[in-house]
Amino acid sequence: MSTKHCSINFEHITAHEQYKILAGSVVPRPIALITSVSKKGQVNAAPFSFFNALAADPPLVGFGIQRKPNGEPKDTYRNIIESGEFTVNIVSDDWVELMNICAIPFEETVDETCMAELSVQAGTLIGSPRVVNAMIALECVLFSEQSTGERGDLILGKVVMAHIGENLVNTDNYHIDQVGLDAVGRMGGQGYARTRDYFDLKSLKESELGTVDQVRVWADHK
Ligand SMILES: Cc1cc2nc3c(=O)[nH]c(=O)nc-3n(C[C@H](O)[C@H](O)[C@H](O)COP(=O)(O)O)c2cc1C
Repeated sequence: MSTKHCSINFEHITAHEQYKILAGSVVPRPIALITSVSKKGQVNAAPFSFFNALAADPPLVGFGIQRKPNGEPKDTYRNIIESGEFTVNIVSDDWVELMNICAIPFEETVDETCMAELSVQAGTLIGSPRVVNAMIALECVLFSEQSTGERGDLILGKVVMAHIGENLVNTDNYHIDQVGLDAVGRMGGQGYARTRDYFDLKSLKESELGTVDQVRVWADHK
């Protein structure tokens, strides 16, 4: 199968156009609702989808955070730099609309978890609370911060504790029930995707590799 490609030099398009291509190409992106606390003790929550698990040892998660249109840092960034802590709450389908309320650019004095009627519980090892609706919450300490220029920053956090719904994790082998988690992903534009169309694709050893057609038959998921 051959596909004709439209090749776009990123030097010839605007930053917003670059963003649209990235956001529509790197999909689906997991969504972290990040909870953090300001110096004054104000709880904040906001979703981030330029987000992923980036290393296993040490266990690092990372996300990209843009500045506000007026060039000021978003509340999440300011809180993380000041406190050195944040919590990643994995967003599931049953509360995706509540996550969306937390994306509204409220004043820094507003607690988005209250606006979205999300219940929170105190963190165990850190000061940031976790969202009770989240089947998985990861308590993180700031590992590093990198400016990406005038418009944004990258944050890396080291996970120090995971809170996982008790029916979701097998504590003998630490497998997590992916169907039960029912995580949602962000697609391009205003699009989202569910993760219910789940299939296994077993890892191959070189000795098992016959023809590509055989491999397609083994996969047997289509
Ligand atoms: C699903 C979703 C994903 C988002 N991902 C990002 C992101 O990766 N980076 C970013 O800077 N803003 C992202 N936003 C926008 C922020 O959530 C929004 O600017 C929010 O108001 C920031 O809040 P804060 O000032 O309380 O930190 C996203 C919004 C939504 C709805």
